[in-house]
Amino acid sequence: MRIGIFLLAGAALLSAQQPPHEAGDMKAAAGLYMKDSAAIAAGEENFKLVCSGCHGITAEGGRGPNLITGRNARRASDEELFDIIKNGIAGSDMPPSPLDDPKVWQITAYVRNLSAPAYRQPLKGDPAAGKAIYYGKGGCANCHMIRGEGGYLGPDLTNIGMDRNLSQLREGLLEPNKRFTEGFRPVIATLADGTQIKGVAKNNSNYSLQLLDGKGRLHLLDKRELKEANFQEKSWMPANYKDKLSETEVEDLLAFLAQQTIRAPKDSASEE
Ligand code: HEC
Ligand code: HEC
Repeated sequence: MRIGIFLLAGAALLSAQQPPHEAGDMKAAAGLYMKDSAAIAAGEENFKLVCSGCHGITAEGGRGPNLITGRNARRASDEELFDIIKNGIAGSDMPPSPLDDPKVWQITAYVRNLSAPAYRQPLKGDPAAGKAIYYGKGGCANCHMIRGEGGYLGPDLTNIGMDRNLSQLREGLLEPNKRFTEGFRPVIATLADGTQIKGVAKNNSNYSLQLLDGKGRLHLLDKRELKEANFQEKSWMPANYKDKLSETEVEDLLAFLAQQTIRAPKDSASEE
């Protein structure tokens, strides 16, 4: 309901004040929409209606390319992206859009935002509250390292805010078994004397297994001396955060993760 109202209000405002199709106003129009979370949300609604048939409901691709990871969408400037979405790509199956310019800008903002790193995306949560969950009830630091502190069974999250966008972070947190993360294949090795070592496989060949355990010790194991190397189907990352964390807690955690960068870009107000 609120989105519908916004669409009407936004459209009326724009057509009254500045026709965004005039070349000189392109940058101004882009500026109005790109970081506006209401515009992005409205763009998402229209994307689902008009574009998802070809690009997928989450924009991860189908008949048309993936718009989250696709290089063309990432490289295009705001104006170029608008132009692709408004006019289509001649000689391809990408059609011109039936929507008016303000709506095309909203979709452009949504598409732009999809491929932006989490650090640059508008957040709902509170990073300080997220930090408390991360180091507290979430137990995340048992497995993940941030700036040299934490555990070894999961990937280092020091730069995760620049390496991933929000939907990837959300998926990493809530649906850990949807994707397989290279270098974190879970394994339990049983030595000849029956000792078991639980960890992640860093390297695995016919002859040897390099296994990193939860304390950060790297075991170089000769396969001939192993009783068993039992590769697990599910990652060590708990799959039940969906149930353990409230919606607000999830948003807070995502906000905290989004802030994790090795070097904070200049245009940012730093946390803490
Ligand atoms: C009938 C299917 C179809 C529909 C509907 C469609 N697209 Fe596309 N889109 C494509 C195809 C196919 C391409 C690749 C074109 C090419 O070969 O360069 C494409 C390319 C793009 C690109 C350039 C990215 C790239 O990697 O080449 C963007 C951005 C894009 N579409 C956004 C949208 C948006 C936003 C909408 C809705 C307003 C939309 N598309 C609707 C099929 C479609
Ligand atoms: C028992 C160990 C363990 C705990 C506890 C754990 N994780 Fe993980 N996590 C992993 C492993 C292993 C992976 C890599 C495999 C995978 O993607 O499932 C991972 C992957 C991730 C990813 C995806 C990383 C990427 O490169 O995209 C995110 C984000 C993440 N964890 C966040 C968290 C947060 C936040 C918490 C706490 C609420 C948490 N993890 C708790 C082990 C753990």
